[in-house]
Amino acid sequence: MVNKKEKVKKSHLKIKVHKKKESSKKKGKLKQDGEVYLHTGIPGFDILFDKHYGIPSGASVLIEGGPGSGKTIFCLATADGLCKQGKKCLYMSFEEPEERLMGHMRHFKWDVDGYIKKGLLRVKRFDALDVSRSVEALLSAAKKELLIEIDPVLFPEDFTPDFVVIDSLSSIASAFSGHESRFRIYMEQLFRYLENNKITNFLIREVATPSHIGATYKEEGEAVSFLSDGIVVLYNVIYENGGRACALEVLKMRGASFEKKIVEFKIINNKGIEVNPNKVISKDRQKGFVLT
Ligand SMILES: Nc1ncnc2c1ncn2[C@@H]1O[C@H](COP(=O)(O)OP(=O)(O)OP(=O)(O)O)[C@@H](O)[C@H]1O
Ligand SMILES: [Mg+2]
Repeated sequence: MVNKKEKVKKSHLKIKVHKKKESSKKKGKLKQDGEVYLHTGIPGFDILFDKHYGIPSGASVLIEGGPGSGKTIFCLATADGLCKQGKKCLYMSFEEPEERLMGHMRHFKWDVDGYIKKGLLRVKRFDALDVSRSVEALLSAAKKELLIEIDPVLFPEDFTPDFVVIDSLSSIASAFSGHESRFRIYMEQLFRYLENNKITNFLIREVATPSHIGATYKEEGEAVSFLSDGIVVLYNVIYENGGRACALEVLKMRGASFEKKIVEFKIINNKGIEVNPNKVISKDRQKGFVLT
């Protein structure tokens, strides 16, 4: 159960000196040069990375895909994997209600109630329009848009996570519709906050079509790809023989080498996500396929 007395930090204007947290030594697998990596714990996923190191700690990773491609479940599965390792996870939902998200986790037999009791997991729903309105009010009060810094809105004050999911950037962006420059300011602040506090984060972005597979890739509105350290793309696969599957690829990950291939994954009842790193989506295996 989420603590009802939890204070939620409202955004407020202040000139901020960003301090690096003293206590942010992350536990994780240490590479020889001292860099720390996070294991998602999703079977078959961390294997895609060189020496199975996983995702560089502190990275901002876009989780992209079409509707129903598995973005939410993938991020919840990562939160489960990290909670199992004793890391603190915050799931910020701008879409589904808290109870439904926790219901998904229970369905997969993940110990959501145990994690919450131990203070490892917080699932919280936010209204994207609140974010947009408060940024607008703050900016018009300041009248010096480029000189001010805005605290990223609505991070709980009494919970310091190792890992944050924002579900989704697309929902936040649509609440800023018609005010793209404000959205960009907000995003820059958000990225800076997460970076300064060394919080590894997954930012879900819904894309209508797989944006990276065509020659006509064009970033709409939310120009955030350049700010992110990594991109994981989830696909719906339609085989020409009528079969369907889910697939994913690591498209970009600064500071890590990884296998460049699109592989199948499955969402399994009562179990969760399993990535099959050996099942590459290929025209040789089936008659053909389309990624959506
Ligand atoms: N409990 C479950 N058991 C088995 N499969 C499930 C379960 N919950 C969801 N799925 C499957 O996972 C798919 C992806 O769900 P998910 O909510 O993660 O998609 P999404 O990419 O976040 O979608 P949206 O863009 O609508 O937010 C669903 O379409 C469904 O097929
Ligand atoms: Mg979703």
